[in-house]
Amino acid sequence: MPAAPFVLLQITDTHIGGDWGGEDPVAGLAAVIDEVLRLPDRPDAVLLTGDLTEHGAAAEYATVRELTSAIAAPLHVLPGNHDDRATLRAQFGLRGSGAEPIHYAVDLGPLRLLALDTSIPGSAAGALDADQLAWLDAELAGAPSQPTLLALHHPPFVTGIAPWDEIGLAQADRGALGALLEGHPQVRRLVAGHVHQILAGSLAGRPVLTAPSTYVQARLDFTATELELVPGARGFALHAVVDGEITSFVRTL
Ligand SMILES: [Fe+2]
Ligand SMILES: [Fe+2]
Repeated sequence: MPAAPFVLLQITDTHIGGDWGGEDPVAGLAAVIDEVLRLPDRPDAVLLTGDLTEHGAAAEYATVRELTSAIAAPLHVLPGNHDDRATLRAQFGLRGSGAEPIHYAVDLGPLRLLALDTSIPGSAAGALDADQLAWLDAELAGAPSQPTLLALHHPPFVTGIAPWDEIGLAQADRGALGALLEGHPQVRRLVAGHVHQILAGSLAGRPVLTAPSTYVQARLDFTATELELVPGARGFALHAVVDGEITSFVRTL
């Protein structure tokens, strides 16, 4: 039997505690996890790319931990605009203290995962400050040949849909991140959430993929004047390391 590749499961925008249009986020996450557990191969690690909760409450994070524990793989989390850094940090035992930005590097074996924190307390938009970019540059310089996946909540590209771009990653910070990546070809792919839909973009020639939410999905409307989130196909992404490169699978329910 051929060996399965290393697989990182990405789940995003679970929004536990949300009540948008009466939709139940717990049922959404549970359905996605059931689907993952029906796969013949278990993921080797799990990545949650932000907006784990609606209100950043401890009880909401406890629900995320309880539901995702069924996957029985190491869990890596990063904050989105709906999360509370201090509570997220406490609930998942993350390094650093209080409401400091949450960023870290973890060696998963065939893949190195770097998590960035694009959240801005009190805002739905995203940013990356100079300290975080300097940290990233140093981390990447320290492991120049290890295939690396960079994860963040706000995707570093524009969608062309105004209300989404208004709460996107600041243009100057996208530019700074792109310039930094030019010197680090080992970053094979960037993955994000936030936009509640499957989008493929690029930054510095590297593919950027967003996974669908396990909750509600963005309505496709290029001339929308406000965010429109509706019931739709929930899903997840699997990032497989094949011959040192990353191939991403997105599945919807
Ligand atoms: Fe979200
Ligand atoms: Fe978000």
